[in-house]
Amino acid sequence: MQERMSQTCDVVVLLSGTGSNLQALIDSTRTGDSPARIAAVISNRADAYGLQRARDAGIDTRTLDHKAFEGREAFDAALIELIDAFNPKLVVLAGFMRILSAGFVRHYQGRLLNIHPSLLPKYKGLHTHQRALEAGDTEHGCSVHFVTEELDGGPAVIQGRVSVRPQDTAELLSNRVMTDVETRILPQTVAWLADGRLRLRADGRPEFEGRPLKAPLQLSDLGEAFR
Ligand code: GRF
Repeated sequence: MQERMSQTCDVVVLLSGTGSNLQALIDSTRTGDSPARIAAVISNRADAYGLQRARDAGIDTRTLDHKAFEGREAFDAALIELIDAFNPKLVVLAGFMRILSAGFVRHYQGRLLNIHPSLLPKYKGLHTHQRALEAGDTEHGCSVHFVTEELDGGPAVIQGRVSVRPQDTAELLSNRVMTDVETRILPQTVAWLADGRLRLRADGRPEFEGRPLKAPLQLSDLGEAFR
């Protein structure tokens, strides 16, 4: 088995909005035995509530407004510079509503995670809850995946599932996915990467506890200790 990281794993979180996932991460890293530490939270929007959550928790924040840049490449280059000043081992996209350039993704290969509100490969992109309802799905959920150059297309590490109820609206479903599963699987994945149980192999496949993952782990299959 791969040697576990003994030092704290510094994490930079990127977000554009409410920051519910950030809050879950903050809460999980507050316990004394967490190997992860949030070094900074960066947003492309100054009014993102997630920045306030970070400030309330005493975490460094930065805003980098994408509208101040000529194009994606220029914004991403500045973002890399900003992130790397914190020297993180891991970068987490927690509701960061910007498409990242290939150069950015390559720079953080194996160290860049995203949480997406669907059971990938279903419903890449936006409006995932509405699309699940329109398709008549009986089950919906979220995935944490390593980021590759394909939008929402990198290998998924873990998924959390909820049942779709007859009375569900996109909002109700979205809230349930967030509360029941999103806020669990992201902190869990960060902890696994931080302690070395999870990594991305050179062949592009995630490896968990020394074994390549053939399919994403399922939250429901994990014991209580993992939640
Ligand atoms: C979440 O649904 C996440 O899966 C998606 O964007 C949303 C962010 O919500 N990528 P929040 O900012 O964490 O509340």
